[in-house]
Amino acid sequence: MSTPTLLLLPGDGIGPEVFAEVLKLIDWLARHRGLDVTTRDGLVGGACYDRHGVALTDETLAEAMEADAVLLGAVGGPKYDNVPREVRPEAGLLRLRKEMDLFANLRPALTFKALLDASTLKPEVIEGLDILIVRELTGGVYFGRPRGMQTFEGEERCVDTQAYSQAEVERVARVAFDLAAKRGHKVHSVEKANVMETGAFWRRVVSGLHAANPEFSAIELQHMYADNCAMQLVRNPKQFDVIVTDNLFGDLLSDCAAMLTGSLGMLPSASLGAPDASGRRRAMYEPVHGSAPDIAGQGKANPLAMLLSFGMALRYSLDRGADADLLDKAVENVLAAGIRTGDIAGPGATVVSTSGMGDAVLAELDRLI
Ligand code: NAI
Ligand code: MG
Repeated sequence: MSTPTLLLLPGDGIGPEVFAEVLKLIDWLARHRGLDVTTRDGLVGGACYDRHGVALTDETLAEAMEADAVLLGAVGGPKYDNVPREVRPEAGLLRLRKEMDLFANLRPALTFKALLDASTLKPEVIEGLDILIVRELTGGVYFGRPRGMQTFEGEERCVDTQAYSQAEVERVARVAFDLAAKRGHKVHSVEKANVMETGAFWRRVVSGLHAANPEFSAIELQHMYADNCAMQLVRNPKQFDVIVTDNLFGDLLSDCAAMLTGSLGMLPSASLGAPDASGRRRAMYEPVHGSAPDIAGQGKANPLAMLLSFGMALRYSLDRGADADLLDKAVENVLAAGIRTGDIAGPGATVVSTSGMGDAVLAELDRLI
């Protein structure tokens, strides 16, 4: 494999602040673990708008299409509230996702032992929790046609359309099976086959894919209705390993699962596209949180979501799972030592700044190797 390329897009608000910490981590991995990557810098969101009058340039988009992974901080902020919609910061992010055809959105829900008390659920319900939600991101009711106002039997009404092709369901289900093969060997496929045609179709296609591929036979497939899944996530979340679901249900269920474990500042994500001829997938890694204008510029942002997003890049794009495991361990230990940013500080915690948290993770990595 030639040296992988990373496109770095810090963006706006706390984006550049948490990004500074991930750059320190990349540098540490290069020095101590032989990580060999070529990095390119780019602008996205408001940072790009300020310079070029658009939220993403064609040049940066072309670099993203070529990169082995795109790392993004966050975009947006009140400064851009009155900017026209098509050049707003969020438009840059949407264009990246669409042009790169990032159809599989991965959101882990993972508990860190030291943060068990940050959850609203009982510790025994979530201790050791490790779920990965795979949400279909480019199809379904958010994109289906027709949509909008229409006249039906003489009356004004509004429609959204849920539509999925077999290929769209298969490619996201394949991602889920591939991931489960490297994790707990269990996939829950979630829809509403009882009341929706697309749900029954989804179930049939996922079952068909599972049955037709001997390499998936070691993976246990279970179908579950989305409403039941929402209940089960709160009642007994540890029954899940990988959950694969459509765009709408995935939007809701991933937010629900995220809050099993605590703060927005801790949540990473990955979005994957289809593999090319060489098996390389386009991919973007970003924290779930936004640009947090209320704390931007104050050194208060929690960089862990950003660092853990890079951990996902190590795992899914760079084939460096051992480094990702090491990072997880370092984060776990730092939290166990009571080192916290303000958003996750409990009684007795040592509150540190954004860079203080980054430094603590690096110091722990130094100790671990
Ligand atoms: P937000 O995620 O930026 O902030 C929500 C709350 O969580 C704020 O109180 C913030 O201080 C806190 N928070 C977020 N990340 C944190 C971190 N790493 N450490 C500590 N506290 C953290 O969402 P909000 O306020 O709805 O949106 C602010 C701006 O960000 C808007 O312009 C919005 O459009 C944009 N946004 C961008 C996203 C992205 O780039 N992917 C995602 C969500 C919002
Ligand atoms: Mg959402």
